[in-house]
This record gives sequence, C-alpha cells and structure tokens, in this order.
Amino acid sequence: MLTGKKILVGVTGGIAAYKLPHFVRLLKKSGAQVQVICTQSALQFVTAETLSVVSENPTLVHFFDEKTGMWNHHVELGLWADAFIIAPCGSNTLAKMVHGECDNLLLTTYLSARCPVFIAPAMDLDMYQQPAVTENLATLAKRGVTIIDAEEGQLASGLIGKGRMAEPETLFSTLENFFAPPNTHFKGKNILVTAGPTFEAIDPVRFIGNQSSGKMGISLVEQLISLGANVTLVLGPSHVDVPQNCKLMRVTSAQEMMDACSSVFPNMDGLIMTAAVADYKPKDYHSFKIKKNEDDMVIELVKNPDILKTLSLNKKENQFCVGFALETNNIEEYAKKKLNEKNLDAIVLNTVSNQTGFQSNTNQVKIFGKNNQSLETAIQSKEEIAVIILETLNSWIFE
Ligand code: CTP
Repeated sequence: MLTGKKILVGVTGGIAAYKLPHFVRLLKKSGAQVQVICTQSALQFVTAETLSVVSENPTLVHFFDEKTGMWNHHVELGLWADAFIIAPCGSNTLAKMVHGECDNLLLTTYLSARCPVFIAPAMDLDMYQQPAVTENLATLAKRGVTIIDAEEGQLASGLIGKGRMAEPETLFSTLENFFAPPNTHFKGKNILVTAGPTFEAIDPVRFIGNQSSGKMGISLVEQLISLGANVTLVLGPSHVDVPQNCKLMRVTSAQEMMDACSSVFPNMDGLIMTAAVADYKPKDYHSFKIKKNEDDMVIELVKNPDILKTLSLNKKENQFCVGFALETNNIEEYAKKKLNEKNLDAIVLNTVSNQTGFQSNTNQVKIFGKNNQSLETAIQSKEEIAVIILETLNSWIFE
C-alpha cells in the first residue's frame, strides 16, 4: 500500500501516455497523493483533464498557471514528493535529464527534486537501441535514477521488439516494492503460493472437485507482492482475478499441481500451500463420456501425491513450508498432527461456518508454529487475515 505517499508523475510525449490515467488510478486506489506534470507534447496523447480527474489534482504543464498567473513552484514540487516517476520517458526528455537542461516544468522539477526518481523509457525499436539512448540510460542509472526497463512487444510503428513502456501494473509494483516496510523478511524473497481446488477427471466432461474459491490464496499473493516478494502462483481451476505482478502457472489436477510445484520449488525461499488438493483421483480415466447403464456405479479412486509433504520433507534448511488445514472435528489435534507429519514451519487452521470457509469473503483462522506458538484471529476479511498470517510468519519463521 502507498497510503499517504506523495507521488509526482511526469508524463512526456509518447503513445504510452494513454496508459497513464490507469497508472494514476492504481496509485490513488492504494492511498497515494498524486500530482501530475505533463510536457506540452504529452498532451497530444493524453488530456490534462483526464489526468486531473483521476489524480484529483490540477495537471501542471506550464511554469505559470494560465488562468491565475500563479507560479507553479518546481522547487516546492520537488521537495513535496516522496518519489518522482517519469512515464513514459521519451528520448528527448531522457537526453535533457542527462545534460541538465530545463526548458519545461517537468525538467526543472526533476533538477530540483530531492526524492528518489524512477523513469520508464518508451521508444521505438531502433531508437531504444541507439548507443546514445543506452548511454543516457546508463548515466542516469549511475546517478541513482531507477530505470524501469522497457518491455518487448508490438510497437506503435508496427515493429516488434523492445521499447514498449512497462505496463502500469509494473510501474505501480516498482513503487510499492520501493516503499515496502524495510523490516519485512518477505522483501525480495521468492515465494511459491498454491491456491484453488484441483479437479480430477473421470471422463471428458466430469470430474471430482471441491468448493475452494482460491480467495484466501489470492489475498496472500496480493499481500506478499505489496511486501516486495517475488511470487509464483500455482492456481487450480478458479475464477478469481489474479494479480498481474505474479508468475502464474495454471493447473487442473493434483498431479499437474505436483509437477508445477516440484519444477519451481528448488528456486524458492518458501512455499505457502493454500490449495484444496483432491486427496484421491479416479483410478481409470474414461476417454469417452461414460453412458448411463446400471442402477449403481462404482468409481475406483487412487491416492494423489501429497504435494506439501513431498516438498516439505525434502526442503533445504533455508526454505520454509506452510500448510493450510480445514477440519471439522478434533480440529487442533488434527492440525498439529499435520504440522509435525508434513514437517511444516507453520499451519493455518481454517474453520467452516456461514461466515468462514471456501466461498466466503471472510475467514477466521488459528495459526500454529513448529515451536508451539499459536495465534487466533477474529472473523475478518480474507485480506486482513492475509496481513495477519504474513506478519505472524514474518516473526515466527525469520526472527
Ligand atoms: N495437501 C497437499 N497434497 C494433498 C493434500 C493436501 O499438498 N494431496 C496440502 C494442502 O494444500 C494443505 C495441507 O496439505 O496445505 C493439509 O491439507 P488437508 O486437506 O487439510 O489435509 P490432508 O493431508 O489431505 O488430510 P485429510 O484430508 O485427511 O484431513
């Protein structure tokens, strides 16, 4: 979250400027105060009015306010901001920043800013590869400016290659990571999260599944991203919206989830396994739809691999594993048994009621740590529960 952070957004002329209202929206939604400064040529791609509406502040372009004649103090703007991000940053502005030129409000503000500066370059393919541009970017990086690298893709010219401005979500997460509380041990860590149900196919149209929505796992992913973690999400069949800034691996069955998790786990610092994995799958898969024949029907089931147990029993000393458990009776006893048998660092015990559980937006959990710690939450939103779970893991696992 960027609650209360003061962000200056500089916009220069380039087709990617049309994405800036969305970026400003993301900043505002996360609680930041936003002041936009445009160059004159930026206004050929995005309107000052749109940016004023989304930032809830007048968009500044000139040294003097055209209506009131008041001076737009670039020094004050530079001192006000906690961060200055210039996006898109075209080659002209880039070159002027390198040489200390200040023929517009955006550049003078850059020269007087004391806060950290971020730029998101955006240019056409050959321009981006020009040695002059590469050297200018390197010079600014050496002076402490953070370069949010351009991305590959289709460019406005029709050429395909590097030069597209990084997406608004990437710009946002760069700032979010920058402001993430320094005491979090999740910052920079590679965390694998699983979420959702698994579906075990019976025939081409039928499966065995469960009611898991994946919401709790997604809330954890969002919170981990905001703490600066690099998240890989292995997601079973779920319709929840997935945060943009995680690496997504979609799977259907428990075996696919096992394969996906095993392939990435060696490079992870930790695993948080919220997925409701089906314990059993049909022994035989029917490649044609099963026809209705007899009055009774038996589907023989065989055990699926226990993903968490397999990975956790083989984890390295510096890796952690956290499981989730949903129990209906002897709840604490069963949860603690899983904590031990699956070699976990902690287990989160879910309860099921009409305010908690699979499809609900709220939850209540009890967390047990491997050193006999425990903590119980109230009934809260899954977002709030995610914050508590991660704060708890932060202190139990890392400190
Ligand atoms: N889990 C797993 N692979 C399975 C089953 C469960 O990785 N085949 C993980 C779940 O994601 C969860 C933890 O193990 O983090 C506990 O899952 P749960 O279903 O509560 O326990 P089970 O081990 O399946 O035992 P039971 O169903 O008998 O309670």
